[in-house]
Amino acid sequence: GTSGPLVVAVDGPSGSGKSSVCRQVAARLGLAYLDTGAMYRAAAWWCLDQGVDLEDAEAVTAQVRAMVLDLGLDPRFPTFAIGGTDIATAIRAGGISAVVSKVATNLEVRADLGQRQRRVIEVERGTEGFSRGRGVVVEGRDITTVIAPDADVRILLTASEEARLARRSRELHGDAGAESIAATRDQVVRRDRDDSTVVDFMTAADGVVTVDSSELDLEQTVEATLGVVGRVSGRT
Ligand code: DC
Repeated sequence: GTSGPLVVAVDGPSGSGKSSVCRQVAARLGLAYLDTGAMYRAAAWWCLDQGVDLEDAEAVTAQVRAMVLDLGLDPRFPTFAIGGTDIATAIRAGGISAVVSKVATNLEVRADLGQRQRRVIEVERGTEGFSRGRGVVVEGRDITTVIAPDADVRILLTASEEARLARRSRELHGDAGAESIAATRDQVVRRDRDDSTVVDFMTAADGVVTVDSSELDLEQTVEATLGVVGRVSGRT
């Protein structure tokens, strides 16, 4: 719509720069920010914390349904807590990245977290109760297609595999030399392959605008994304 709180949905593979871009876009537009990948990471962290075997799909589902997850949606300082414990740092650990796909490919888990994500969107859109929402940028893998196909703006943030590997390698190892790239390959390529067995985030669905960040730095990608939001929503 051209008035009312804006809902912006952004999907894309790992290493596309999604989180940094979405946080800045949300901050610049005064919108709330929801990182759904962090919700899957929180679910994995919680199951491990509770001693659940991640191969036991039924136990994982039950444990995730019981998870009390508190989300802070300020794009400048997003927070994640379970039962009062701040888990924002813990969910970024390599051990979580290595196993999160096991939780994210569980369709019952996706249904549960998807319901929580839709609720956040309803609140921020202002259609729940009487409060007026702030609008929200929601990022993930299935937001433009499954969770919020009716979002005002839908974007697929992509980058070439080479660019994504280099970016993640610099994040994880501080450089993008041959050895670091090889060590990063499993994280990026293997995880995206596993994840894409349940959701397609490599191709733009109908009505979804692609932003390719391969040749852009962070600031340029933010500008390009803001441009798409302004153009598609009719607001600048
Ligand atoms: O974006 P990320 O690396 O923090 O995502 C963590 C994991 O969750 C990743 O394996 C993909 C998965 N994910 C998903 O399946 N659906 C989403 N909407 C967001 C993330």
